[in-house]
Parts: sequence; structure tokens; C-alpha cells
Amino acid sequence: MQKILPINYIEKINKDYFIIYIKNKELALKSKPGQFFELLPMGNYKGLLRKPISIYNIENDTIGFMIKKIGYGTKYLSQLKVGDFIDFLGPLGNSFNIPMNQKVMLISGGIGYAPLFYLSKELKNKHNSVIWIHGGRSEKDIFDSNIMNYTNDGSYGKKGFVTSNLEKILEVEKIEKVFTCGPQIMMKEISKITQKKEINTEVSLESYMACGIGVCKGCSVLIKKNNENVYKTVCKDGPIFNSKEVVWDE
Ligand SMILES: Cc1cc2nc3c(=O)[nH]c(=O)nc-3n(C[C@H](O)[C@H](O)[C@H](O)COP(=O)(O)OP(=O)(O)OC[C@H]3O[C@@H](n4cnc5c(N)ncnc54)[C@H](O)[C@@H]3O)c2cc1C
Ligand code: FES
Repeated sequence: MQKILPINYIEKINKDYFIIYIKNKELALKSKPGQFFELLPMGNYKGLLRKPISIYNIENDTIGFMIKKIGYGTKYLSQLKVGDFIDFLGPLGNSFNIPMNQKVMLISGGIGYAPLFYLSKELKNKHNSVIWIHGGRSEKDIFDSNIMNYTNDGSYGKKGFVTSNLEKILEVEKIEKVFTCGPQIMMKEISKITQKKEINTEVSLESYMACGIGVCKGCSVLIKKNNENVYKTVCKDGPIFNSKEVVWDE
């Protein structure tokens, strides 16, 4: 679906992160955790491409998009005001597979927190018990003091990486399923650990995107299918893949 909608509310988290909220019942009803929208700001925007942004939260008919300022597009989005219009294409891509009554772990790095927030709510609705580990470079990359936080520089939570004590936590907590989103290297290391422990793991992959609907093939990644490596699109076949399928060392 494509809809041009005004920004309803903006929440500034800190100088790098902000959340844009829009209201639309139809889009809210169709959206599932793990899916994303391609955003195209209206007005003077000079960028060539839409920006893929995950669904951060849904409350009734309100959808939230948590965004980190990176380059031209996300900086442009950060300067928009309430009432400014954005062209939304979506919801796009597949979604996380949500179990019932399991002990699950979420592991995020930096802005990888965004898609896991809505997922965490849906997991709890399906009676799963959820443990969340989040890591960032420093304090400004930490969003919830109640989850298990790691920072690379030790400015908040434990000093280190989300993988620092992971094997032990998985074992002690008897985790049955892991969901992760963050830098590629972080997800690769997590996948190595969870594969060794035979824990079902879903990863949300990132890739440069153009069309967002499976046509241009610009976002292709190598995926293992029946002992063969084949190209799949992150925008249409993903962004969620089972970690066992991902060819990490391309
Ligand atoms: C499925 C999906 C969901 C996403 N969800 C979110 C989200 O919820 N919130 C959010 O803030 N961001 C999200 N992103 C990332 C976001 O789309 C990019 O940060 C954004 O497109 C950067 O655009 P820009 O114009 O600001 O920067 P650009 O000018 O396009 O790039 C700035 C720099 O960042 C690097 N870069 C840009 N995009 C990527 C990328 N996809 N992978 C690796 N390096 C990149 C480039 O190397 C470049 O040097 C998501 C990406 C995907 C594919
Ligand atoms: S972005 Fe065009 S195929 Fe994925």
C-alpha cells in the first residue's frame, strides 16, 4: 500500500535518535513485527531513494518509526515537523515467527532495537517469557534501563558486547528461541553461538535498498537452500531469515 500521511507526533530521544508517529488504522492493522516501510519525505527532499525503516511500535491506529540519524535521508527526516507529509510504502517484507509459551531472548545492537520493540510486545501477548539484551557504543545508544545493557565504552550497563556472557545466559535461562537485529558482525557471532547450542534463531538482515518490493534485486543476499547457495532479496524474501540459512562469509 502507498499512502501520503502527516506526522502526528515526534519524540526526540537524544541528538542521534528520534521517533516519528503517524496515525492510520488500515496500515496499523496490516503491519506485523519485523516488517518495514519505505519512507519518502515530501517537500524539498533531494534524495533519490526511499528509506527503509522498521515498524517500531503500534498502539491502536498509531504506528511509530524509531530512526537513527546516519546520512542525508535520515537527517532530513529528523528535521521534519508535526503536520509535514511523508509518502509511506508498505508494510513490506516478511515478519518474525512468533512462538507461544516459550522462553525467548531478544538481542539488539544500536538501532537494531527498533524492530524488536514491537516484537517484544507481541511475544508477551502470546504468553512467551522474554529476556532482552541490548548493546550500543555508548550511553546514547541505550533506550531502556530495565533490559540487560552493554556498552562498548562502559558508559552505561556492563562494559563489553552482547555476546560477552551469552553462552552462559542461554544455558542458565534455558532459552528456546532467539531473535536478533543489529550490525552484521554482531548477528554473525550470535548465530555461531546459538547454532552450537541448537537454538532456533531469527535474524533481521539489513542491506542497501532501492525498490523495496523485490524488483531491482539490489538488496540480494546469499541464502542456503537445500545445500545450495541462492540469492534472495532482503526486501521481499526477508528481512527475517533463520540464522542457519544465512551465508555470513560472502
Ligand atoms: C529492512 C530495513 C529496516 C531498517 N530499519 C531501520 C529503522 O527502524 N531505523 C533506522 O534508523 N534505520 C533503519 N534501517 C537503516 C536505514 O534504512 C538507513 O540507515 C538509511 O537508509 C540511511 O539513509 P541515509 O540517507 O540517512 O544515509 P545514506 O546517505 O544513504 O548513508 C550514509 C552512510 O550509511 C551507510 N549505510 C546506509 N544505509 C545502510 C545500510 N542499509 N546498511 C549498511 N550501511 C548503510 C552508508 O555506507 C553511508 O556511508 C533499516 C534498513 C533496512 C534495510
Ligand atoms: S530493494 Fe529492490 S529487490 Fe530489494
